[in-house]
Amino acid sequence: MFKARWARRTDAARVKVFFEASMELEELPGEPGAFPRSWKESFRPGRAFRFCVVEDDERRVVGSCTIHDHFSTYRGRPIVGVEDVFVEESARGRGAGRTLLAFAERHAKSLSAARLELHVRDDNEARRLYERFGFETLPYYWMQKPLRPVKRAPRPA
Ligand SMILES: CC(C)(COP(=O)(O)OP(=O)(O)OC[C@H]1O[C@@H](n2cnc3c(N)ncnc32)[C@H](O)[C@@H]1OP(=O)(O)O)[C@@H](O)C(=O)NCCC(=O)NCCS
Repeated sequence: MFKARWARRTDAARVKVFFEASMELEELPGEPGAFPRSWKESFRPGRAFRFCVVEDDERRVVGSCTIHDHFSTYRGRPIVGVEDVFVEESARGRGAGRTLLAFAERHAKSLSAARLELHVRDDNEARRLYERFGFETLPYYWMQKPLRPVKRAPRPA
């Protein structure tokens, strides 16, 4: 039996491995050093997302995802996004991924959210898991305009 819970600060080392592995699978460029910033942000009061982990029977963390609180202006209700879903290879195919999704859904329901949403590459087998869980594919393009970080002038000493 797998169990999902919100990540604690002590999960950092395990989650870093999963997060960086999931980043490597994406073709969208990740930024080196993103994890420490994202991890720190996820514990800031008022943050828009948190990390969630899934544990096996021995309470070993075997996977993680991020859960993002958004808002649908059309629905006038929150939306919950699930991203960075990753389960270590040896634990796959036994329901850990589904357990992360179910946790996100419980969180969404607790907010009376209008829907769960996620992004997945069209050639990723994970689509089967998402479809069986109830996700539908939408006829939209996912567009982006990459921006460079703003360089700030150093503060005067
Ligand atoms: C996608 C992923 C999180 C699923 O985790 P999981 O614990 O195996 O998921 P579950 O056991 O709940 O569900 C298994 C389903 O996941 C899908 N799946 C995708 N890749 C898989 C893999 N390598 N091994 C097993 N199942 C996989 C299948 O649809 C499988 O369904 P099936 O049992 O009918 O074959 C996991 O395979 C993974 O971490 N993959 C690499 C990272 C990734 O692609 N993440 C998704 C980014 S959007």
